[in-house]
Amino acid sequence: MRQAGRYLPEYRRIRGGDDILETCLRTDVVVELSLQPCRRMDVDAAIVFSDIMVPLAAVGVPVRIEPGRGPLVDEPVRSSDDVSRLRPLEPDVDVPHVLEAIRLLRKELDVPLLGFAGAPFTLASYLVEGGPSRTHERTKALMYAEPSTWDALMSALVAIVLPHLRAQAEAGAQALQVFDSWVGVVEPNAYERSVLPHMERLFAGLRDLGVPVIHFGVGTGELLPLMRRAGGDVIGVDWRTPLDVAWQRIGPGAAVQGNLDPVVLSAPFEVVAAEAERVLSLAAMRDGHVFNLGHGVPPGTEPDTLRRLVELVHERTQRPGNRSA
Ligand code: CP3
Repeated sequence: MRQAGRYLPEYRRIRGGDDILETCLRTDVVVELSLQPCRRMDVDAAIVFSDIMVPLAAVGVPVRIEPGRGPLVDEPVRSSDDVSRLRPLEPDVDVPHVLEAIRLLRKELDVPLLGFAGAPFTLASYLVEGGPSRTHERTKALMYAEPSTWDALMSALVAIVLPHLRAQAEAGAQALQVFDSWVGVVEPNAYERSVLPHMERLFAGLRDLGVPVIHFGVGTGELLPLMRRAGGDVIGVDWRTPLDVAWQRIGPGAAVQGNLDPVVLSAPFEVVAAEAERVLSLAAMRDGHVFNLGHGVPPGTEPDTLRRLVELVHERTQRPGNRSA
């Protein structure tokens, strides 16, 4: 998930007041911010420090990220003319700093490195709404009212996200995570018609790379079988669906990532431990459980709570052959 962030004092010191999209252009800073969580705790993987809006900014979309709010797009994308201005991403030219950070990180890390991207729906939601939204009404209205503009927009986004993910794997990322954070607002039949075909093309386009791909969304309890059909070796689940229920919906053949409620981290450690134990007991030591939070780390989290959580999960899941066993 997002393991770097404002909950770390060393992060706040470095980030200062710049737009995070500016920070993401500075390879040395990106490397440092990616490493920070790994120094604090014994996590099993690192994720390159970037943002889902980075490839959109790189193809010329005027976007900024406002602290405490999120991405803002001053000229929202709402017509087929707007869509036609989105050009495909050329990773070597448009995001060389991300690829360089990945190459440098691979030299520093002794755990696997994840690359990532936002999924087309979630990126579309920022482009169409012009900013964060609770209901994503404009986005869904475009999807229902103007299906051909919608499909053109989703296709244009696949032409940005797919090369971005491929280039990260080719630069050395050992797994990829696709964040469809806001797709949970879509009703299943509409997902099947208007989102799934694009997601199928995205995942199909990653298959030959041979790296595991994680497919994550928030509030997707009812979409899990369709997300599984769309693709991904691992399906990420938020805290709203009990892990055993989620697993049943996802079915055999995929791994499952999740799903501790991040807000639990603000409670005394006994509570954190009990809730983590509950998640682990629902996973029941099945192969293919990737323990994780159900979403990002809240800014008020005590870093030591996360360190102790990682330690606890390692203790409880030791098996012969585990790195930490
Ligand atoms: O752990 C890591 O190093 C990964 C870094 C990472 C960031 N963004 C950096 C960031 C990742 C994986 C993301 C993905 C991202 N960005 C998503 C998908 C994952 C999710 O949480 O659902 C989304 C929806 C975004 C868009 C975005 N960027 C939001 C909503 C915000 C929060 C705005 C705020 O201040 O609350 C951002 C800013 C952002 N990107 C932060 C971080 C660490 C917040 C801290 C900061 O601005 O320094």
